Amino acid sequence: MPERAPVLLRVEHLKKVYETAQGRVEAIGDLSFEVRAGELVCIVGPSGAGKTTLLKCIAGLLTPTSGTVELDGVVVTGPPKRMALVFQEYGRSLFPWLTVAANVGLPLRNRRVPRDVRAATVERMLATVGLEGQGGKYPWQLSGGMQQRVAIARAVAYDPEILVMDEPFAAVDAQTRADLEDLVRELWSSLGVTVLFVTHDIDESVYLGERVLVLSSAPTFVQEVVEIDLPAVRDQLGTRADPRFAELRTRVYQQIQIAKRGPAASTKGES
Ligand SMILES: Nc1ncnc2c1ncn2[C@@H]1O[C@H](COP(=O)(O)OP(=O)(O)O)[C@@H](O)[C@H]1O
Ligand SMILES: [Mg+2]
Repeated sequence: MPERAPVLLRVEHLKKVYETAQGRVEAIGDLSFEVRAGELVCIVGPSGAGKTTLLKCIAGLLTPTSGTVELDGVVVTGPPKRMALVFQEYGRSLFPWLTVAANVGLPLRNRRVPRDVRAATVERMLATVGLEGQGGKYPWQLSGGMQQRVAIARAVAYDPEILVMDEPFAAVDAQTRADLEDLVRELWSSLGVTVLFVTHDIDESVYLGERVLVLSSAPTFVQEVVEIDLPAVRDQLGTRADPRFAELRTRVYQQIQIAKRGPAASTKGES
């Protein structure tokens, strides 16, 4: 039997309470899970379930109230160097005054990668995400889906060990979304990068993931882990027509329904 890859990300008894003028908001109750190197894990949960809060804790942008996030065995206390983030609001994540190439090259520049190496990497990354020859344009000259490709190219340009995505395709149309989902699967298999992908879309989580963690509503815990035993090579038509896909999406759907009814309902069972 092949040895399992080492744990890359470990979230242990994470809890996050926001203290606001209106009182305490317990966003994350008690959350524990692991992601192994090279996995593609999806996290799905109802709106307000604390998904973004979780990712901000993982990315070192928020300090947990208690519990820990470890990357490579080191407790995360600030933005980890080898973690890349892609958020839903691509419009706000790209600099409008920089060309596409300059946007993609920015993290490399910040890491003092020499100019010629940088230019070559940017070209390669743009080609990887299907934007060859678009480097001279400005983000606002591109469609939403293309802008999100730029954000993805920038995220993978400096060879992160983990790519963390927060509902990255929620704001694009269905066809573009399907193409971008396939891009994520492609990058994952070609680059060998670990991916943690958060979505509220059940079908998307099943189509993309090797495992789906279903979150309860806030205060959040991991309600269910669904292993996605679909073939590794997936395609939008074939995979979605697979009876196993239907079974898995039903399973995730049922868990989300339980999550939406809240903890009281989930202990009463399925009567
Ligand atoms: N900065 C904040 N201050 C206070 N409450 C917040 C803040 N950010 C999020 N929340 C609350 O925490 C809960 C979880 O929010 P969020 O992590 O954005 O969920 P999701 O991404 O799953 O929709 C919600 O009730 C939300 O209103
Ligand atoms: Mg969110």
